[in-house]
Amino acid sequence: MKHTILCFSGTGNSYYVANKLRISFEDARLVMIPDLMDDSTIELTEAVGLVFPTYFFLPPPIVAEFIETVLPRLDFSPVQYFYAVTTRSLWGGWTHSITDILLRNQGIALSYASSVRFASTYIPLFTAPNIMQIEFYYKHAEQKILKIVQQIGNETIRPPFRPMFTRYMLEHKMDKSFEKTKKSAQASFVVTPACDGCEFCYRICPTGNIEMVYGKPIFLPNCTGCLACYHRCPQEAITFNRRVSSGHYPNHEAHFQKEYRE
Ligand SMILES: Cc1cc2nc3c(=O)[nH]c(=O)nc-3n(C[C@H](O)[C@H](O)[C@H](O)COP(=O)(O)O)c2cc1C
Ligand code: SF4
Ligand code: SF4
Repeated sequence: MKHTILCFSGTGNSYYVANKLRISFEDARLVMIPDLMDDSTIELTEAVGLVFPTYFFLPPPIVAEFIETVLPRLDFSPVQYFYAVTTRSLWGGWTHSITDILLRNQGIALSYASSVRFASTYIPLFTAPNIMQIEFYYKHAEQKILKIVQQIGNETIRPPFRPMFTRYMLEHKMDKSFEKTKKSAQASFVVTPACDGCEFCYRICPTGNIEMVYGKPIFLPNCTGCLACYHRCPQEAITFNRRVSSGHYPNHEAHFQKEYRE
């Protein structure tokens, strides 16, 4: 089976998992979801996988938008096995069930879902992990990824839990939650004088939410909440306008260097 792996990642954990899957399956292709959010199209294969993080117990807004607007225009005729692998820090919540409903609304059945645990990147609540903690999580993630590779390789059928209330969640909670996430960057990031105008945040923002004005970043209202700009700014010049936990997550273990704009 040929694999197409569709990935979204803010700080690299999900990219790391997606890349491991790519290496593990012969002839697999890894495509980053933000690269497909315009009119681009790709040919799908027999196996298709989504790999992305958990945000507020749900899929990130950009992933939901991808499922609702990009997947419907792709040709699904070759696809026989569709899987989702998420990353999380503590609890994935409704991420798999909601992803499953979003996919089913597009006529796609999820054959398999699993998750891998990493350190939290959500600085408003948790202090960023240090290098030793990052190494610890990556070492333990290895075993889980191996198991997932084996199960997907065997085309294991393991759909997500399908609780009765998820459709209610989708209709009543999720839109509000996504709106909150989207508003958060514009409202909560502050750029300090440490910014040297390198434009790195502009290039790595997966939603094109950052524009450079007079050499400094400004935030538009289409944030997907990934915190890549905060964590990956080389000068640590992006902060919050309120008291949050401390630290940054420049995650070298992930080897994540993707830039979306030149
Ligand atoms: C905005 C935001 C919200 C998050 N919410 C959750 C959550 O609800 N549950 C959880 O277990 N982890 C949560 N996390 C942690 C991430 O899911 C986890 O660190 C993930 O591996 C990050 O993936 P990435 O490096 O590919 O962006 C959150 C992180 C962010 C940035
Ligand atoms: S990445 Fe940091 S230093 Fe570079 S432009 Fe953005 S805020 Fe400024
Ligand atoms: S503005 Fe920052 S947090 Fe929001 S999507 Fe862009 S990189 Fe991610």
